[in-house]
Amino acid sequence: MSDLKIIGIASGKGGVGKTTISTNLAVALAESGHQVMLFDGDLGLANAQLALGIQAEYNFSHVISGEKSLKEIVVRGPSGIFVVPGASGIGKMADLGEAELRGVVQSFSEFQEPLDYLIVDAAAGIAPSVTTFLKACHETLVVVRDEPSSIADAYGIIKVLATEHDYKNIGLIPNAVPDQRSGQLLYQRLNAVAVKFLNLDLEYTYSIESDETVLEAARKYTPVLTHSPGSTAARDFRKLAKEVQLLPVTKRASGGLQFFVERMLNTDPEATHG
Ligand SMILES: Nc1ncnc2c1ncn2[C@@H]1O[C@H](COP(=O)(O)OP(=O)(O)O)[C@@H](O)[C@H]1O
Ligand SMILES: [Mg+2]
Repeated sequence: MSDLKIIGIASGKGGVGKTTISTNLAVALAESGHQVMLFDGDLGLANAQLALGIQAEYNFSHVISGEKSLKEIVVRGPSGIFVVPGASGIGKMADLGEAELRGVVQSFSEFQEPLDYLIVDAAAGIAPSVTTFLKACHETLVVVRDEPSSIADAYGIIKVLATEHDYKNIGLIPNAVPDQRSGQLLYQRLNAVAVKFLNLDLEYTYSIESDETVLEAARKYTPVLTHSPGSTAARDFRKLAKEVQLLPVTKRASGGLQFFVERMLNTDPEATHG
């Protein structure tokens, strides 16, 4: 079994396509033969569960409270992906007591299914509850649209991660662009600013073109990959999944699921295992 790779999907502002990209990327990776878990870290109205047509009985708050284990709340989505339904308590992870922390970490370490990818659909913005999640990921991919406010906010989150958290494994996913060339140009513009002011070279992954079938699929609570496998967007998501598989593996890309939660909770792995 290969090491688990944890990929955070982030954005400076909401409504740019994080959930669309998280869900379709998860399904595309699963379709290419990987074991994938999708962590719904955003509590927005159009969350990952809804996008996948899943109505889960339990969510991550039940793991935090100790009522359920991770495997008891995980539900299966399209192409066999494991989905961890989000909870409003997630933002308060940093405030949990020692016993609760141990319970959450324990629950992750007990999850026995081998996983290749954990995709985290993060909430928008730079609140500590968001950066806590992202710091625990091996790579954060920032979704950006070619609009001044989206570009400014994308730069904002990149800046906070790089300067305040010394977190540098950041890539871009230009979304809803008219064509691939426009997406690459958008990347180049933002990367030039990051190089100049943050001394940081961003990874380019792949761009997702603007495609009506994404909206059609969303109205049916289905990923566009399942709904319209032959669409432009579905093609882009499969290419994105290929690029994600080629992302350089950092030395932090080791350890299983429990390491994600340990990093997220900022606890000492030795202490929590003791
Ligand atoms: N590439 C795309 N082409 C067309 N519509 C898109 C595309 N990506 C996202 N959308 C639409 O944009 C809206 C916001 O996307 P969503 O994934 O919910 O954003 P977020 O999770 O960042 O808030 C949704 O209606 C979604 O269907
Ligand atoms: Mg969302």
